[in-house]
Amino acid sequence: MIILETVSDLQKATLSLKKEGKSIGFVPTMGALHEGHVSLVVKSTEQNDITVVSVFVNPTQFNNPSDLEKYPRTLTEDTALLEKVGADIVFVPTAKEIYPEPDTRQFDFGQLDKVMEGKYRPGHFNGVAQVVSRLFDIVKPDRAYFGEKDFQQLAIIREMVKQYSIPVEIIPMPIIREESGLAKSSRNQRLSEKDKEAAVTISKALFKSKDRINLYTVEETTKTVKDEINRVEPLEVEYFEIVDGNTLQSITNWEDTKYAVGCITVFCGEVRLIDNITYYQK
Ligand code: PAJ
Repeated sequence: MIILETVSDLQKATLSLKKEGKSIGFVPTMGALHEGHVSLVVKSTEQNDITVVSVFVNPTQFNNPSDLEKYPRTLTEDTALLEKVGADIVFVPTAKEIYPEPDTRQFDFGQLDKVMEGKYRPGHFNGVAQVVSRLFDIVKPDRAYFGEKDFQQLAIIREMVKQYSIPVEIIPMPIIREESGLAKSSRNQRLSEKDKEAAVTISKALFKSKDRINLYTVEETTKTVKDEINRVEPLEVEYFEIVDGNTLQSITNWEDTKYAVGCITVFCGEVRLIDNITYYQK
């Protein structure tokens, strides 16, 4: 495994691999890696000759400076883990490498980035699109791997690839959870044991609501999930919306869509946790 820090070194490496006819799988990350990230890397190693993983905490997607500052950075552990699971190239650029000039590009994703995360984190997805398009341009992967944990991000990346005809296949990967059900997240490192116990309520409420969709309307389901979570200290639901999995627009009746997904964001104290559940995809 090699670790590269500059765009030109990375381009040199991938260009010569491409000339040799090697396929390239790419996993963009912000580091503080866990089994969720590992599942993407392993899939990429299975489907491609070469797997490139980027570790870059992208400043343009943080709308809250303290969130950016507090984002965990564990590069030594990350590279050791990546070596173990079979990554070939780790790209660890500085912000100057990725953004030699300030990136002023404004993307338009229609309604996709106006709702949920887009509403509560203005500019977030524009920053994600800036960095991912830049990374795609540098790495030129055949396939790129994204987790369904960030459901809206995945929809936006798919839209970006479509809009700009970027020749990359987007591979979605299922959410990896702790045994307790809590979705794995780099931000879980900031939770105390007590917080973690509370945070388990999030996935529990989502799973329970899925078991009961035949009994409850969309409105009742939404209310029950929110109430069950808000009842537990220090959890506070920011939003919970049941949406069409393709358009991300809220539904009012289960019959409105063939693909229903419940997307949630919850503050556990100061830590912002996201999760989602697919109710059905017919
Ligand atoms: P990051 O949060 O590090 O996540 C990197 C990738 O890992 C994303 O595709 C995310 O959906 C996936 N992932 C995270 N937790 C997961 C879990 N529990 N199960 C399955 N997949 C999981 O998402 C980002 O970074 C950034 O926005 C990025 C795309 C790298 C752009 O900066």
